[in-house]
Amino acid sequence: MTLIEFNETQGIFHLHNSKISYLISVEEGGLLSHLYFGKKVKDYHGQMRYPRVDRGFSGNLPGTFDRTYSPDTLPREFSSAGEMDYRTPAVLVRQENGANALALRYKSYQISAGKPSLPGLPATFVQNDNEAQTLTITLADEVTGIEVDLLYTIFANQAVIARSSKLRNESDQTIYVEKLASLEMDFVDKDFDVICLPGAHANERHLERGAVNFGKQSFASLRGSSSHHMNPFIALVDKKTDEFQGEAYGFALVYSGNHNFEVEKDQLAQVRLVAGINDFNFSWKLVAGESFQAPEILLAYSDTGLNQMSQAFHKTIHNNLVRSKFKNEERPILVNNWEATYFDYDEDKLKPIVDEAKDMGIEMFVLDDGWFGHRDDDNSSLGDWKVYQKKFPQGIGHFADYVHDHGLKFGLWVEPEMVSFDSDLYQQHPDYLMQVPGRAPSPSRNQYLLDMGREEVRQNIYDQLVKVFKEAKVDYIKWDMNRNMSDVFASDLPSDQQGQVYHRYILGVYKLMEDLTAEFPNILFEGCSGGGGRFDAGWAYYMPQIWASDNTDAIARQTIQYGTSLVYPVSMTTAHVSAIPNHQTGRKTPFDTRGAIAMSGVFGYELDLTKMSQADKDQVKVQVKQYQAIRSLVQFGDFYRLKSPSEGNQTAWNFVSADKKEAVLVTAQVLAYAQPYLTKTKLAGLDPDKYYQDQETKVIYGGDELMNLGFYDPVVHEDYTAKMYHFKAID
Ligand code: DGJ
Repeated sequence: MTLIEFNETQGIFHLHNSKISYLISVEEGGLLSHLYFGKKVKDYHGQMRYPRVDRGFSGNLPGTFDRTYSPDTLPREFSSAGEMDYRTPAVLVRQENGANALALRYKSYQISAGKPSLPGLPATFVQNDNEAQTLTITLADEVTGIEVDLLYTIFANQAVIARSSKLRNESDQTIYVEKLASLEMDFVDKDFDVICLPGAHANERHLERGAVNFGKQSFASLRGSSSHHMNPFIALVDKKTDEFQGEAYGFALVYSGNHNFEVEKDQLAQVRLVAGINDFNFSWKLVAGESFQAPEILLAYSDTGLNQMSQAFHKTIHNNLVRSKFKNEERPILVNNWEATYFDYDEDKLKPIVDEAKDMGIEMFVLDDGWFGHRDDDNSSLGDWKVYQKKFPQGIGHFADYVHDHGLKFGLWVEPEMVSFDSDLYQQHPDYLMQVPGRAPSPSRNQYLLDMGREEVRQNIYDQLVKVFKEAKVDYIKWDMNRNMSDVFASDLPSDQQGQVYHRYILGVYKLMEDLTAEFPNILFEGCSGGGGRFDAGWAYYMPQIWASDNTDAIARQTIQYGTSLVYPVSMTTAHVSAIPNHQTGRKTPFDTRGAIAMSGVFGYELDLTKMSQADKDQVKVQVKQYQAIRSLVQFGDFYRLKSPSEGNQTAWNFVSADKKEAVLVTAQVLAYAQPYLTKTKLAGLDPDKYYQDQETKVIYGGDELMNLGFYDPVVHEDYTAKMYHFKAID
């Protein structure tokens, strides 16, 4: 199958599959111009070339006299600093003479089958070379010899393109890359809204939408991590785009560190997006012959609203980014002891929870923070990955045996990137800490960052973790990170490489995860950073699931899980039932509401099973069975958002199996009213010709009926309600 064509005469590259087309042209002077990204077109006849107009104060190419042709107005694929383009550049390189000017011009191209990996970085992959094709366009700067490879991979069956860029120092001088975006994309005649996912700890990924106005907006993280605060994703959408209609362009960076999505509306109302590693405090030294690879970014296109954009992301992340052998396996229902005990536990206190879990049919016990060093609170022991003898006198393996003997899997919490002052590791290796010489490092949760960019630091942590993972016979690891980066300095790097520290740290963390996941392919790894502080596509490459938020309140979770689903598949999003009053919000929600919301993700419990009423214990047994019956559908089905929690009093979403024979609908309402207006919920994604039976009421509905008429939501006189419906197609 041909997915990429180059028309030599016209100088046009056309990437296409059955859903999308992406068109690039080589323009006068070797400028690479963006022509189109959107719904598939059969072929291209050149009628969309950018019109020539004389624009005052937008200058022209050196050595030319044509005032109608300006790099400052042309839609570009990759612009550089120092040329006649006043918009945000994609690349900035400081050269030996202090100049940062480049003029990157088309040099050559290559089309290859499949998808190359990006050394040291997470990136999409394909199983067979016929699933994708990759176009590499090389741009070169004549004066210095610096070259940039632009990589575009189009997948055969998805409305998704993966892009990245690589800068090669083909000059004879040492240079400093001060910015290298993963992508630039310029749009003409688009009056966009921009959607982003901002938040905070315990309040992650709220869908925020606003106009793209003249000037520049930036959606960024400077925390050394992809962050709770601004997820590495934006969508540019038409004003009328909603969940089911309109154009949406989604951009998700496959990276877990500092990022920046710069959206600029220029003098002609054209929109430029430049996205990639944040250039704040970034400077990467390249001696002659060296190269720098920018992270990958996924571009998803939909002409039928946000749900379709999300499904394109979900499928690509699940199929082409998650590597773990667990990717297609139903994930175990777990109980985690964090909100049950916090640090106050020992083996004797935990065993009854394990007993209860077995009785209730729960499939895994996860031992959270506090099992190592001498950790009784969050002020000590990070970095000492040896069992706390006081809590587990017979060792961690002994407790793991207890869990395994009860027929449960055993999971363990770790926070590999951190160190406490009160730890053996810090006493032995104070220099492992990230800190600026002569300055006291800033505590956050009274802990500090290890410089994971350094090999010996990683090796120390790796050796400790391998030992304990084996000893504890772990089936699952929860990898946490409870602070952001500060005091950014690497003691082993010279002054002209301190601009590498942020990115080098992330590469180090990726390397450690690569090594550990390779050493333990049978461990199910779950990412976490104080909940969803590093919920990004890069992480998915190493770990198939991530703790979505420390906020376990069923009402707050609706907003968090709704926003998360914009990009990330449900199989990646973990959600637990916790006790009331909720520990984060103080809210008291009914047990089945907590169940319905948590069952909309990778399900588990986060409470003391020994301290529940008999009625609640019985309900756990029911929920466990209920989730087991729908688990595959929820985790691997198609997900549709129906009603947004931020637009009113109700939330609704549904899951549909690939064969459309089964669906689960979840509806939720925040407040009850004395005289409620009646509401209906309409499902999506069903087969209109099939008949579906509600498994509870046994009522049969046509698929078309459920999608077009919908049905009345129950009238309830109670706050914080939710309901789950399970439909099965009948023959
Ligand atoms: C933050 C995590 O998100 C919690 O679930 C818990 O593991 C704590 N850290 C433990 O310190």
